[in-house]
Amino acid sequence: MSGTVVIGAQWGDEGKGKITDFLAESSDVVVRYQGGNNAGHTVEVGDRKYKLHLIPSGILYDDKLCVIGDGVVIDPEALLNEISYLEGEGVKVTPEKLVISDRAHLIMPYHKVLDGLSEKSRGKGDIGTTGKGIGPCYSDKHERSGLRVCDLKHPEYFKERLMAAIEVKNRIIKDVYKGEELDFNAIYNSYIEYYSRLKDYIADTTVVVYNALKGNKKVLFEGAQGTLLDIDYGTYPYVTSSHPISGGVCIGAGVGPTMISRAVGVCKSYTTRVGKGPFPTELEDEMGEYIREKGFEYGTTTGRARRCGWLDLVILKYAARLSGLTSLAITKLDTLSNIDKIKVCVGYEFDGKVIDYFPASMEDLAKCRPVYKEFDGWDDSVQNASSFDELHDNAKKYIRFIEEYTGVKVSIVSVGPNRSQTIVAG
Ligand code: GTP
Repeated sequence: MSGTVVIGAQWGDEGKGKITDFLAESSDVVVRYQGGNNAGHTVEVGDRKYKLHLIPSGILYDDKLCVIGDGVVIDPEALLNEISYLEGEGVKVTPEKLVISDRAHLIMPYHKVLDGLSEKSRGKGDIGTTGKGIGPCYSDKHERSGLRVCDLKHPEYFKERLMAAIEVKNRIIKDVYKGEELDFNAIYNSYIEYYSRLKDYIADTTVVVYNALKGNKKVLFEGAQGTLLDIDYGTYPYVTSSHPISGGVCIGAGVGPTMISRAVGVCKSYTTRVGKGPFPTELEDEMGEYIREKGFEYGTTTGRARRCGWLDLVILKYAARLSGLTSLAITKLDTLSNIDKIKVCVGYEFDGKVIDYFPASMEDLAKCRPVYKEFDGWDDSVQNASSFDELHDNAKKYIRFIEEYTGVKVSIVSVGPNRSQTIVAG
């Protein structure tokens, strides 16, 4: 059995899109297992740039099967738009290349409306949602009032459940938020139409993935967001509503843990974070600005500026432990070039002691002060390196220290956005 999971080892935006695309080349099947179209992968191939939100990165290859698993929440309108966008870019999207789980939950228009209204009502305490209805959709799933892809096969059943849901949601929209009520007929008709356009893609994806693994096909599970956005292990409440860690694969793709043999953690050579909440290594100075501009740290989906800081190895070690990482992919080494002294966080000063674990409480995390180790920097030459040996000596030392601290081998080093700027470190 040869299942490999790729996860984000920080707060998301680590460049998982590029690494998944790279690993997809030697895979047969690429599976998304959590999140929704709140993810934003950018993949550069030659001089083309593709932006993906819901469809696995493997779609860029003609011979890969892409799967949107049970744990993903699907906005059918967004999915159809993404299919049209890809086709416009010359990428074929057919039922032979893409299958969608019949058990996945549907994002409904009221999820998007409620996402916006509840975020607005939080005022200064907002959690920075993307407003795409992901959180409210997962809430309904767990509250057992959600609608699933398979429900669309049965229009009468779908109608009944939708009617019940809209009645409740409209009450909340009107009475709690003083918003505008949604029209049942318009929603019902549009979802029936989406179904007619998507029905050929729908399958029991647990069977598809199981058969691929049993048949010794190489299956790549593509995580979205990152470890610190995990609903249980992340910086709650500034988290997403699903499980980006490797354990999320079993639930979100319907496979047993014995079928996964590798877990690759993607980590930037520095740290970024979108939205609020404590961030121990944040650089609120010129250095932070330099990294933001050089690394173009602006959200793929939202355009929001990302907060930037030094690499935090306490976080990386936490991610390695939670996901049982078997290797690391370090991205954006080129972004740190031409910096004289580069710092890496190796512990936190907290309550008069130095700790090397990541606290659960955000109140505690806010009190943590980073303990740094300093490294000499490297020049622009890293972006042209095509092997580990060709990297600047100081960059090699940096990578080796990451391995030493985390106890996890670095198998990939990314030195630029393009597919070709990827070094297999062995
Ligand atoms: P999420 O799933 O939303 O977390 O996204 P992601 O992890 O795929 O990251 P995203 O694609 O939003 O951000 C990565 C950006 O960095 C993209 O624009 C990539 O093209 C780019 N990128 C990836 N690796 C490198 C690298 O090594 N160097 C540089 N300069 N850019 C890179």
